[in-house]
Amino acid sequence: MPKQLDDALSNFENKISDCIRSGKSIFVVTHIDCDGITSGSIITKALIRAGAKCTVRTCPEINKNVIANLQKDARDFHVITDLGGGFAKDLDENLGENWFVLDHHQIPKEEFENERVINAWRYGIDGGTQISAGGMAFLAAKKLDNKNLDLAAIAVVSALGDRQDQGEKKSFTGPNAEIASIAKNSGQLSIDLDLLLAGRETRPLPDALAFTSQPFIEGLTWNRDACFSLLNSAKIKLKEGARWRVPAELTEEEKRTVIEAITKYTTGKNATEIMSELIGYTYTFPKEDKRSFLRDCREFSTMLNSCGRIQRAGVGIAICMGDRAKMLQEGEKILADYRKMIREYMNVLSTERWRISDSEKCMMVNGEGLIPETMTGTISSLLAGSPKNVGKIVILRTNGQEGTIKFSSRKSIGCKSKVNLSALMREGAEKFEGVGGGHDMAAGARIAKDKLDGFLDYLEANVSV
Ligand code: C5P
Repeated sequence: MPKQLDDALSNFENKISDCIRSGKSIFVVTHIDCDGITSGSIITKALIRAGAKCTVRTCPEINKNVIANLQKDARDFHVITDLGGGFAKDLDENLGENWFVLDHHQIPKEEFENERVINAWRYGIDGGTQISAGGMAFLAAKKLDNKNLDLAAIAVVSALGDRQDQGEKKSFTGPNAEIASIAKNSGQLSIDLDLLLAGRETRPLPDALAFTSQPFIEGLTWNRDACFSLLNSAKIKLKEGARWRVPAELTEEEKRTVIEAITKYTTGKNATEIMSELIGYTYTFPKEDKRSFLRDCREFSTMLNSCGRIQRAGVGIAICMGDRAKMLQEGEKILADYRKMIREYMNVLSTERWRISDSEKCMMVNGEGLIPETMTGTISSLLAGSPKNVGKIVILRTNGQEGTIKFSSRKSIGCKSKVNLSALMREGAEKFEGVGGGHDMAAGARIAKDKLDGFLDYLEANVSV
């Protein structure tokens, strides 16, 4: 670990010990997505274990109002996870020295000097691919006490939620790989090279194949009937009694048969690429029940994302902190609702073509009156994963809270654009009195509705430079 990061974590540890000794209240504020839910849960669990007086709350984004409310709330100390990039000055002004940010989003240069910003980029770590906010929270938890090493497992879910499995064959790199090793060595995690179908533990086989959009297989992806026929013709047993079998139950021989059947289907020029993308590392919690959505870490991350996206982040936090029974049923229902909503929005977008304005380098999508703002990230990521949009930047917008427009941008696979989406969104939004930020490949922004035309012109002028 870089020395500067270790020093920052020691500083964090000292402040927290001080809060615990003097009975001060700590407020954990975190983002609503998978990385937010997991990072908030990791640090909250560590603080509770250490004997801190602590509460946790999720928040869709940080802005001046949120910070002013933190000040009014009068808690003694604040730990902000997966949020806060670009707001260090406001946090200083409102909360004095009583805060820390644990994060991995890109930050403006001036924040590199602030010791309360514990952000991956400050220590030469690529926060886009090598560590998530959950990973940063894990490092802080580990610094508080080595017994928090067990929280590495949840940090693996954080990294998958933010699609940081970008090494060869969907492996992890940098600190993420070390965190995964910690979880593996303690027997909490198994890592295997396997067939990558969406919903490994929970989706019926034909659905799993149909919902596998990375790689996108023309004719199979999003076409359940075709997937059913393909598996049937390959003589794969699809049901166990009345119950559908799931991908994790396929034997080695069956996997080979499925791969062969798909190979025959994908005779085009991308066949080799598709086949190579279909094999990659899977991350499994072997102690969770078979066919539970908590067993496959990617499904776990999808469930957490869905909790946040449909305003039920609390359920996700409860599950990450160890709650089961009723919370699991809730989680299952949330996941089903979320998947249904995604299907509906994608269907409408494919029929209402007026919503889409397409150019060589960029696809602008108008989701106003259709997509709730909490779902923009999900839908823009899906659009960026479609082969129709290969190489493009996808920018989705919809109506946001309090007369605002929310933007969500993604670089698609094969996008060679030099534009850094984090800078595009932050600098652009600032020009129009809004807020924006994120990562090179995925970023968001919010502006007032009356600034929309100007902001769209700005995007058009800057997206293809
Ligand atoms: O909102 P969306 O999912 O498109 O955001 C993409 C990424 O950008 C997320 O990681 C989000 O936390 C980040 N973001 C940010 N500041 C904003 C908006 C989004 O850091 N104002």
